[in-house]
Amino acid sequence: MNDDRAAQATDVQLRRALVDEIAAEGWLRTPAIKAAMEMLPRHLFVPGASVEQAYANTTVDIKHADDGLAISCASQPTVVAMMLEQLQVEPGHNVLELGAGTGYNAGLLGKLVGPTGRVTTVDVDDDLVTGARSHLAAAGLGNVSVVLGDGALGHPADAPYDRIVATVGAHGVPRAWLDQLAPGGRLVVPQRIRGSVSRSFSYENRSGTWVSIGSQMNSFMPLRDGVAADDRDFIPIAADGSVRLQTYSTQPVDAAALADVIDQPRSIAWTDVLFRGKESPEWMELWLTCSFSSGLNRMTSNDEAARLLVDDPYPSSAAVVENGTLAYLVRRLSRHRTPEGDKLWEFGVVGHGPAGDDLAQRVRESMRTWNRDYRGREVSFELRIHAHSTTAPYEDRFVVEAPPGQLLIDWH
Ligand SMILES: C[S@@+](CC[C@H](N)C(=O)[O-])C[C@H]1O[C@@H](n2cnc3c(N)ncnc32)[C@H](O)[C@@H]1O
Repeated sequence: MNDDRAAQATDVQLRRALVDEIAAEGWLRTPAIKAAMEMLPRHLFVPGASVEQAYANTTVDIKHADDGLAISCASQPTVVAMMLEQLQVEPGHNVLELGAGTGYNAGLLGKLVGPTGRVTTVDVDDDLVTGARSHLAAAGLGNVSVVLGDGALGHPADAPYDRIVATVGAHGVPRAWLDQLAPGGRLVVPQRIRGSVSRSFSYENRSGTWVSIGSQMNSFMPLRDGVAADDRDFIPIAADGSVRLQTYSTQPVDAAALADVIDQPRSIAWTDVLFRGKESPEWMELWLTCSFSSGLNRMTSNDEAARLLVDDPYPSSAAVVENGTLAYLVRRLSRHRTPEGDKLWEFGVVGHGPAGDDLAQRVRESMRTWNRDYRGREVSFELRIHAHSTTAPYEDRFVVEAPPGQLLIDWH
């Protein structure tokens, strides 16, 4: 076998192994999506990466801002599969994607719609559009167009669409996306609810109301440089800069008051709220982000800083802030076990700053309320699209801003 044929065998094997891994985790159920992922060579979309990197189940960054932050990437393959499962594209569909990036997901959409369908994908930077076009051409996709523009405006020229998918994070849901959907269409969007807590929603119009027919925990790099830009910032919360808090421009956060909050004395409130090792705390995090006006915000830190914060760092440490006070979640191994004898972890809250003790206690009480009264309940989501809507919250229901409308979150 010559070298080219040997390399080809390797990428085919790596691709199959990746797809099998995603399917084994339960994120790939639809045969057509599995076939598309097996067929489309991801390495052609990330030519700067090695074949091994192209078929690792991780994001591949392709562009960075001046401060080093990644602003374009090929999404993690598991997330790609999960969102395609949410979208359920059919042959012949007309599909719009916002966030072309490498063009890989648009290529998969091109395979799924087939020769009778078409795909339009939009990105905001010229170099990314050029790159995506050339990757799609290299992969032989003729039914995908790549357009330069602000994705928040959609692409009215080819509307209406049977499916619209944002592969870029949005805070609200731009009206253009809803307006450009065909009757019976579906919109999938990774939407930041409040703080850093996001879910990928699958919206459909049911009797005049936009309801989410399913959602998954999922967060994306945000929309930038356009009418719905959701700019984020990373503010230092340790004097040596080793720990930072992710915030968004719409959040009123007092960065100066928080500059060294982690260095201030701490108090810990343990909650008796227990989780299994691999159990996701996503619903508890959603509850907290709805219950505190700052939302729950991700803290970034290097390993060194994480060791200073707690003994058993909770991997996506998340914090609530009020003025110059911060309270973040931690976990420790519990002495309790599941009935099957498996380990359990207990969540706690660490408070720092002038009112650290009080805030930690209040976050603890909120977690206990969720655990006692809401854990395991079904949660539903509805989008109110009118600006200045005055929907009132009531018991079991939260209303959060989702410009230009609101998101209603019901714990049934
Ligand atoms: C996670 S990447 C998308 C991955 C892509 N679908 C793929 O398969 O490679 C997010 C993309 O959204 C783009 N983006 C950010 N703001 C945008 C905007 N206002 N309009 C269109 N695209 C935008 C970024 O440039 C980036 O390429």
